[in-house]
Amino acid sequence: MNFDEYLQTYINGLGDNRLIKAMLYATSGGKHFRPELLFAVVKGFGISEDKAYPSAAALEMLHSYSLIHDDLPCMDNDDYRRGKLTVHKAFGEDIAVLCGDALLTHAFAVLANAPYSSDKCLKMISYLASLGGLNGMIYGQLLDISVHDYDDLSPKELDEIQDYKTGALFKAALYFGMILADDFEHQDFYDDLALVLGRIFQTQDDLFDIKKTFAETGKSASDIKNHKATSISIKSIEEVEEELKRLFYKAYALLKRGSFDTTYLEEIVRRMENR
Ligand code: IPE
Ligand code: IPE
Ligand code: MG
Ligand code: MG
Ligand code: MG
Repeated sequence: MNFDEYLQTYINGLGDNRLIKAMLYATSGGKHFRPELLFAVVKGFGISEDKAYPSAAALEMLHSYSLIHDDLPCMDNDDYRRGKLTVHKAFGEDIAVLCGDALLTHAFAVLANAPYSSDKCLKMISYLASLGGLNGMIYGQLLDISVHDYDDLSPKELDEIQDYKTGALFKAALYFGMILADDFEHQDFYDDLALVLGRIFQTQDDLFDIKKTFAETGKSASDIKNHKATSISIKSIEEVEEELKRLFYKAYALLKRGSFDTTYLEEIVRRMENR
């Protein structure tokens, strides 16, 4: 069973009502980028990726919730994601809010019941709560909606927004791999890698809003319409592309520092470069 089937089968088993239908809808069609990061770490330690499925499911559920709420009319106000209607457009705002709530809370139930030692489960719960929440993604979303005049925003402040709203969940993904592999003495490596990959990912996501078509991204470029502070609002396309080159260089250099076989992570970085 691949991870997509695992996740859909799991959520399908939670019940049969319109909330579960919305949860299935919200968790399908994504790239599974965060789970892929986690799988690349564990495979680098010779652990099979399906051992990481329960923890990856929790990550992907929390990520999917973040997108549902990010799309709401009071946030980015988007009608399309992954080439289909956003959850609130397809199911209504009331169900969309509950669907996000359910995916968020259930992610922790999944971790609490995961087939790992209690110590590993507890560590994952703790990191996901903090990196998905006030010390991570939620704080990044707060920064994202708090910038009203991006002309005053420095590149350093933009980095901070990206590190929190995107890098934090990447860090949770890499930490889950670190926890499964008991590789705690190299935590700095996971920290540094998460920030570089988070910045690459969010910078590309911003860039694609102007460089790619709706058919390619599957989402409307609302950040431009909403005058959001993004890579492309404070820098020229050339500057953004230069920045990406520097970040990719940094990512490859960092991977050489890994304490395990980083070829799986390197494959992911190559795929990012070809996005
Ligand atoms: C979208 O994340 C939100 C950002 C951090 C840019 P993804 O691009 O990973 O979304 P899906 O899950 O593949 O649709
Ligand atoms: C959102 O960034 C990142 C989240 C934490 C959800 P964006 O607002 O740029 O993500 P998209 O473009 O809607 O996927
Ligand atoms: Mg947003
Ligand atoms: Mg958005
Ligand atoms: Mg975006």
